[in-house]
Amino acid sequence: MTARHFLTGAELSSAELGGLLDRALELKRAPLSSRALEGRSVALIFEKPSTRTRLSFEVGIDELGGHPVVLRSEELQLSRGEALRDTAIVLSRHVAAIGVRTGPDETLEQLAEHSSVPVINMLTARHHPCQALADLLTLREAYGSLEGLRIAYVGDGNNVARSLATLGTLAGMHVAVASPDGYSLEDGISLPAGASGLVTLHSDPREAVRDARAIYTDVWVSMGDEAAAKERRAALASYRVDDALLDGGAPGAFAMHDLPAHAGEEISAEVLYGERQRIWDQAENRRHAQKALLELLVSGPA
Ligand code: CP
Ligand code: NVA
Repeated sequence: MTARHFLTGAELSSAELGGLLDRALELKRAPLSSRALEGRSVALIFEKPSTRTRLSFEVGIDELGGHPVVLRSEELQLSRGEALRDTAIVLSRHVAAIGVRTGPDETLEQLAEHSSVPVINMLTARHHPCQALADLLTLREAYGSLEGLRIAYVGDGNNVARSLATLGTLAGMHVAVASPDGYSLEDGISLPAGASGLVTLHSDPREAVRDARAIYTDVWVSMGDEAAAKERRAALASYRVDDALLDGGAPGAFAMHDLPAHAGEEISAEVLYGERQRIWDQAENRRHAQKALLELLVSGPA
């Protein structure tokens, strides 16, 4: 049997996504109730820094009875030119799943092609689907059903925006994305099979946030974009999420951010540390959502 991978999130059906979020809510209520990874190990390859992803995967795997094996890429033979193919074959002989954080999506795809165990995208330049699972879980906790829910993403049309659009539309949501010229989610409208939601692209943040129940933002300078940091900050300066922008959303709209944040840049400190946000819940929900994902990929539906 070929392994089920989770590379962009579009691998899930909308019914599987709904089931995964239900399961994540159960696991959040009873974190030690599943032994889905009892006696098994999961490799976590990091080619880039991480706080939340590493923490939530390591602790989550441990809570499922498994053993996380963190592999920094500079410590692997990969850094001395060993083939991705060979690395994938060897890892598959030892572990139940492989998480990968890297730059090029092609690196992830090659590992997945040659791995006989599930490969999970822990962030690439184009996608961050594990983050989107936690985001949808946070929205479910706040609003119940996701079907027809409108949210806005304001800022750089990056990996986080793309995954929010991919998984959000699979859940039936309307994701309105506002970005300046040159930073838009150019292919945000290529929706996954079975998606019943909608992505709209805007340049005016106030237009995108109208009727939005949550207003999401991410850093203006992602990992790998540092060389153009100055231009990016200038282009995105009027896309900050602050109280005034939240006032333009639906009543009770709250801010979301995947973190790390730059207070005073893409989000005001008042919003980041205030009451009109669910950002710290999102960070916690990474663990619950990823545990449900691991259960699904490694053991099949609960
Ligand atoms: N949101 C997120 O993926 O955070 P880290 O980069 O700290 O893992
Ligand atoms: N867009 C950010 C997300 C970090 C979690 C980056 O890729 O650096």
